[in-house]
Amino acid sequence: MTTQPTEPTGRTPITSAADIDLNDWDFWGRPDEEREHAFRLLRDLDKPAFFPEPEFSLGGVTGPGYHALVRHADILEASRNPEVFCSGDGGATNIPDLPAEFAEYFGSMINMDDPRHARLRRIVSRAFTPRMIKQFESDVDVAASRIVDELLETGSGCDFVTEVAAKLPLKIICDMMGIPEKDYQFVFDRSNIVLGATDPEYVSERADIAHALLTAGMELQQLVQDLAALRMQTPTDDLTSSLVNANIDGERLTAQELGSFFILLVVAGNETTRNAISYGMRLLTLNPEQRRLWLEDFEGRAPRAIEEIVRLAAPVNYMRRKVTRDHEMNGNLYREGEKVLLYYWAANRDERVFDDPLRFDIRRDPNPHVGFGGPGPHFCLGAHLARREITAMFRELLRRVPQIQAGAPERLLSSFINGIKHMPCEF
Ligand code: HEM
Repeated sequence: MTTQPTEPTGRTPITSAADIDLNDWDFWGRPDEEREHAFRLLRDLDKPAFFPEPEFSLGGVTGPGYHALVRHADILEASRNPEVFCSGDGGATNIPDLPAEFAEYFGSMINMDDPRHARLRRIVSRAFTPRMIKQFESDVDVAASRIVDELLETGSGCDFVTEVAAKLPLKIICDMMGIPEKDYQFVFDRSNIVLGATDPEYVSERADIAHALLTAGMELQQLVQDLAALRMQTPTDDLTSSLVNANIDGERLTAQELGSFFILLVVAGNETTRNAISYGMRLLTLNPEQRRLWLEDFEGRAPRAIEEIVRLAAPVNYMRRKVTRDHEMNGNLYREGEKVLLYYWAANRDERVFDDPLRFDIRRDPNPHVGFGGPGPHFCLGAHLARREITAMFRELLRRVPQIQAGAPERLLSSFINGIKHMPCEF
């Protein structure tokens, strides 16, 4: 899902917090260094900055505005208190409220609160049986190895994002659900629209965003519902079969719930992991001494290196919460009905928590980043799988193409996803 900031107004240097407008497209098109500087200014304010809501074209109500939570401590605290900072009531993936059906249609459990959230999460988590997870794990290794075979076949390089980083999460999610290979591209194109609709590469006219989003969502729903019908008659060992057929407690997803969960899985699992892998490649290119360190002991250093990549990449820039009752948090008052944005990207650079936060350090320890969300009921369901995918990809790359270099990234124009659309690589 996306928000819609206003049109670019021309780029002026940011010298104080008053120069920052998080609703301005141009802000999100600025290079990392400029946004890093801006968020540091916001973190240094006495209290979180307040921004008006951007105008929105999906028919929801536009409220008064939102507090930008940019400090690590605020994000932890808000995540731990879902009764006060809720994800339902308009949705967690967008700034202005969405009608409930719309938010749940696209966001499934990410846009819900307990008890409905807990019920969905329980059914879905039970479907990830140890046997299924084991199977995915070996599939991830095989898939990463094939992707590097294909990279080597190019002879000298390619677009790293589309030919390397995007392929692994796409294949794994489709395989998990039982979506056949012929439909991978179909799923890829629609997930790009759902999360990248504000970028002209995916939807050329701003006026068409709502229509493009709905069409992409409906097409993904249809794909998985057709598959579900087959699996209800003839179950296999895929996730779709486990979700539509009752589990040991007699629980299962309805066709509508399955469709929405699938949209969430493809967008949450694809775009995020793809961007983490792409950022990781860029970080290793810019920091050759870190690459050397990792090459010295890949397996030993991988767990911390992966966390460090996710910390700096922070592919999900923010999630939204709505305040359910007046509440004081870390010395500031939040009033019922107001919104807060949890800027994970900014919290992962908080100098109060991370020593020399802009340094890429694959041995960083401790590393309490919030790239997978804060501690609470919505903590990323796919964190384990994502770590596994990123590790497998870099294991293959560093073992077989250790000198691979990434060129300048072409960033996604989005305030929600910190994405790279294209990035040349050569070896
Ligand atoms: C580097 C990769 C990833 C990152 C950075 C990431 C990030 C996040 C974040 C920040 C949230 C928290 C949402 C909130 O608090 O409102 C989240 C939730 C979620 N993620 Fe991930 N994610 C990644 C990979 C994946 C993968 C691979 C999958 C699935 C296969 C996945 C599925 C989900 C789901 C289903 C939720 C919603 C959980 C809930 O609401 O209970 N994610 N993710």
